[in-house]
Amino acid sequence: MTTHERYAKLCKEVNFHNYRYHVLDTPVISDLEFDRLAAELRQIEADYPDWITPDSPTQRAGASPAEKFEKVRHPRPILSLANAFGAGDARAWYERIRKLDDRVEKAGFVVEPKIDGLSVVLHYRDGVFVQGATRGDGEIGEDITTNLRTIKAIPLRVPVSSEQSSVFSDQSLKGSPLFSGTQPPKANVKSPPYFVVRGEAFITVKEFEKLNKKLEEAGEKTYLNPRNTAAGSLRQLDPSITASRPLTLLVYQVVYSEGGDVPTNQWELLEWLMALGFPVTDAARRFPDLESAIAYTETWATRRDELPYEADGMVIKIDDLRLAADLGFVGKDPRGAIAFKFPAREVTTQLQEIRVNVGRTGVLTPYAVLEPVEIGGVVVERATLHNFDYIAEKDIRPGDRVLVKRAGEVIPYIIGPVAEVRTGAEKPYAPPAACPACGQPVEHFEGEVAWYCVNAACPAQLVRNVEHFVSIGAMDITGLGIKIVEKLIETGAVKDVADIYTLKREDILEAVTKKDRKTKSEPPGKIADNLLAAIEISRQQPLNRLIAALGIRGVGEVSAADLSRAFPSLDLLALASAEDLQMIEGIGPNIAGAIVDWFSRKRNRSVLEKLRAAGVWPTSVGTAPAPSGGPLAGMTFVVTGTLAGFSREGVKEFIESHGGKVTDSVSRNTSYLMLGEAPGSKLEKAKALGVKIIGENELRMLCGK
Ligand code: IVH
Repeated sequence: MTTHERYAKLCKEVNFHNYRYHVLDTPVISDLEFDRLAAELRQIEADYPDWITPDSPTQRAGASPAEKFEKVRHPRPILSLANAFGAGDARAWYERIRKLDDRVEKAGFVVEPKIDGLSVVLHYRDGVFVQGATRGDGEIGEDITTNLRTIKAIPLRVPVSSEQSSVFSDQSLKGSPLFSGTQPPKANVKSPPYFVVRGEAFITVKEFEKLNKKLEEAGEKTYLNPRNTAAGSLRQLDPSITASRPLTLLVYQVVYSEGGDVPTNQWELLEWLMALGFPVTDAARRFPDLESAIAYTETWATRRDELPYEADGMVIKIDDLRLAADLGFVGKDPRGAIAFKFPAREVTTQLQEIRVNVGRTGVLTPYAVLEPVEIGGVVVERATLHNFDYIAEKDIRPGDRVLVKRAGEVIPYIIGPVAEVRTGAEKPYAPPAACPACGQPVEHFEGEVAWYCVNAACPAQLVRNVEHFVSIGAMDITGLGIKIVEKLIETGAVKDVADIYTLKREDILEAVTKKDRKTKSEPPGKIADNLLAAIEISRQQPLNRLIAALGIRGVGEVSAADLSRAFPSLDLLALASAEDLQMIEGIGPNIAGAIVDWFSRKRNRSVLEKLRAAGVWPTSVGTAPAPSGGPLAGMTFVVTGTLAGFSREGVKEFIESHGGKVTDSVSRNTSYLMLGEAPGSKLEKAKALGVKIIGENELRMLCGK
């Protein structure tokens, strides 16, 4: 096989695996294998940039930011839908159209979820995705092609009538309800030379919650709801931001086509789109009459939370697309379809109190205590208020009547106050000046929206702090599980992490007997002895482990090792200025500031003194100093996920012993991202920045092994 043939094959393969993963949700290779294919593809493209085609999977991200979006005229108006608020409205709609055309009496229907996302319009020429636009006013939208390319569910190439074969075998479609009916999967489906499809871009509820959790932990602003987030993500001028958001899409309509056949009923159209490689809902069903369509629709009103995305209703469509077109439209609403809306999940209730939660990193998060109210079959008593800026922006006051929304599995949130019904007694809310758990003053860091409790001894954080201190990458004390930690804190035996080293056998016995021991068969005495032994062993941990164990904001295992090399004792590290710290590669102003701040705190200093007094004061460094030279000299690596053949420390040592560097976060200066199983957000960031992604074999190859 020539390199060019190999390149063409890799393009097809990577596109196919993207499709298996992002459209069918059933990958057939591991992430690691996928990344190897993608890395090989990228390498060929780096060697032969002239070969790169617009449908290469590497072309999804990487476009440079735009100044503004160009306008696009849609080939046909992008219509809206009239609403029905119950079976009565749906039957009235049917009666109206039956009177206009008697073919309606024999018509069948297709029912699909009405996804609460953004309508997008995708153009394909000769099988290649060439343009994508927002709906805009229905006549003219905005060109967001480069942003849409980053959505992996959108096929960049589909089989076209002039082509011989497609990468998508019909096998890959088996198991879909669209093909579980009487009809066999269509073989060799081809698209016309030019056609335009319409779909809904959105973020699933799960991905939305994940995104918000990450933002909250980083002290950044969280998003209001999946729809706003999807809308904001699609309208980014910088496509690398869009690429980092978990957008996906489902298609449901062919708006326009030229030079080829397109199915003339909705059900076959969905099958056809699916066979071309487009993502299509698996909740669509076909019915012979309106009553069965209504019955199916109504089953979803109570099951809507089972859909992975937010849906505000179901769309009932006349199956026969010619009849639907002949029925015409009223204003912007086609007569051939109707949106059967689910009951609204927004209600008003009284905001009794604003309370504040203290998270793992000390972030303070406000939440609302509500007069209990039923929303869509669930009694809601708490709602998120996102952050203190949000409360101020919306002027939400304790005692207010507030509009609350519960959508899908998304945590209920407050849309805003109903200011018209204020009594005058509601006073603007002021964020707490002190931590509600420990009473220490709270702090705010520049560039972040969150307020923090930075007190290392705060009881709300102490459990998490101890958990972190004893974890595997830190002091590695086996047997000190969360349940025992909670009890030790409750009994007062542990007031900070240093107290671990002065624990007595009786303290542990008391905690062990107090905790629920249903699942433990070991006698308390043995548990206590084992734990004391593990604590004793942990005294020998090197300095980098202890630095990592302190839980300083932004200081992970990698930075801790870098710090321990530059400052070979905690005394020296405590004396370092922010400027000194920033001399170390990988330590930026934020981490440097957090370190200086941590050592300046009285409570933290007292923890350090206790550790010193307890003899836990290492001066040895765990990893060998980085040699100069070697095959990896000048290269910077970031590791994400679990590697099969290396531990975290092991891979670091391997890279460093060959002259490379390992840092904690991905930046434009990162040479390679080392990818393991279950990677974190670093992978998305690396992709967005175009950082090369490699596996263990490639690493060994780089070292000439
Ligand atoms: S059909 C002529 N089907 O709902 C075709 N629309 O309120 C009209 N939507 O603007 C649209 N899921 O953005 C259709 N399965 C679906 C849909 C859907 C969501 C949106 C669409 C439209 C809005 C109408």
